[in-house]
Amino acid sequence: MDLDPAALYDLLNPWNPDAHPGDRFYFGLLMAAESVLDVGCGTGAMLHLIRDRGHGGRLVGLDPDRASLDRARRRTDIEWTEGTAADAPRGDFALATMTGHAFQCLVTDGELRASLTAVREALGPDGRFVFETRHPQARAWEGWDVSDPDDVAVLTDAAGRELKVWHTVDEVAGDVVAFHETTATPDGTVLGVGHARLRFLDVAALNRFLAEAGFTIEAQYGDWDGSPVDTTSREIVTIARR
Ligand SMILES: C[S@@+](CC[C@H](N)C(=O)[O-])C[C@H]1O[C@@H](n2cnc3c(N)ncnc32)[C@H](O)[C@@H]1O
Repeated sequence: MDLDPAALYDLLNPWNPDAHPGDRFYFGLLMAAESVLDVGCGTGAMLHLIRDRGHGGRLVGLDPDRASLDRARRRTDIEWTEGTAADAPRGDFALATMTGHAFQCLVTDGELRASLTAVREALGPDGRFVFETRHPQARAWEGWDVSDPDDVAVLTDAAGRELKVWHTVDEVAGDVVAFHETTATPDGTVLGVGHARLRFLDVAALNRFLAEAGFTIEAQYGDWDGSPVDTTSREIVTIARR
């Protein structure tokens, strides 16, 4: 059985502002922006949807993963560029986004610095960079680890195949969490394993990196409803100005 991780991603993470508060938060900002650079756009579902909903401006999706971009490229009324955040093209975008916690893929200090510098240079004079990162205090990774794959729900992919997908945390080293995602048939035959590392910056460290890159923080929320970051927040949602 051939596994299509990009198609599976869309199945597990549908982008829908009518159903998900986080997507709704971005939707308003995106539709109001003349031009958008979506950094870590993955399969492009967000840009596809805003074009469908009538966004008439320039839309560019940037991602280093070729398989995801191939899926994004099924739509030709949007520009797609292969590359990391650090490769962001200089420009005058009104809005740059990193959604779906893509920002946490920036793991090393060097990657963070190079990415933030490039994203800032991609923005026009009043441009804004909007993204979210999981607050480390909520220790989200503890909820990801599956001790018994038999407990994992079976899902059906677009081809009608039954699959199980689960995560295992391999290591927590400082603020970096290494984990892997296993995809298997319902009887446990493993079809694919994908490894990843995500960084969980706290507010102080995040804001230091932003300030160092020249960004000003316009707003920072602990939830999609616009409430402030406090000791119960699970997210750090940031609107930063060039
Ligand atoms: C969890 S997915 C989020 C995709 C999409 N933004 C969403 O909201 O569904 C993270 C994406 O970040 C991309 N990514 C990984 N490292 C990156 C980097 N250094 N710069 C930009 N994107 C990166 C991955 O290829 C992946 O498509």
